[in-house]
Amino acid sequence: MTTTEPAVRQPTRQVMMNWRTPVYSKDHPDADEHNKILRELILAAEKEDDAAANFGGIDAIKSSEDILLWDHPSIDWVKSLIMEAVNELTIAVLGDAAKEVTPKILAEGWAVVYRSGGSLRPHSHHDCNWSGVYYVDNPTPVGAEGDAGYLQLLDPRPSAVSRQASPGPVRFEPVPGRIVAFPGWLTHQVRSTATGSGLRICIAWNVAYDKAFTRVGTPAGGTL
Ligand SMILES: [Fe+2]
Repeated sequence: MTTTEPAVRQPTRQVMMNWRTPVYSKDHPDADEHNKILRELILAAEKEDDAAANFGGIDAIKSSEDILLWDHPSIDWVKSLIMEAVNELTIAVLGDAAKEVTPKILAEGWAVVYRSGGSLRPHSHHDCNWSGVYYVDNPTPVGAEGDAGYLQLLDPRPSAVSRQASPGPVRFEPVPGRIVAFPGWLTHQVRSTATGSGLRICIAWNVAYDKAFTRVGTPAGGTL
């Protein structure tokens, strides 16, 4: 009789940390000039944007999803921040193989303008690999008490939350000039903007890799 050894032996004792979730953030303290321009562009566009709507948020207006197509150096600058974030996240997950996918990324972006008390319910983003937000303006001073306007990334393991085996939400203060990026499937929400405050403005975005699908055949009895 012969025995077959398993290809890989599991250690007899270990603590594995599985399915870690990459999250990126970077502050750009030199962003003031761009932010002033972006604020003006976004508020001017909102007046003309028939598709701007209170979509999924409370007292928050989401613009059309074309902001990354605007022809302006400050939009180009935001696109470069998105590219940098996605490159770093992809390298963190894929290592050397990242260079096979990062030249093919596609992005869409939109502005969100939060009014007094505005918030966003828990949600995730469909049909994309990475999502994120860039903060343009925040009426609450940096470092103020409370969590007005904070982004909360929720633990993607709901059972862990109910069993108190989770560190809880990962929180980001909406500091102007800060970009945060995470997997599109990661559930997140936005805490209320301070009541009675001014506008809080950000640019949200999705990134996907090239989707050039190929027809693989015709199903029996019908057409695709
Ligand atoms: Fe979102």
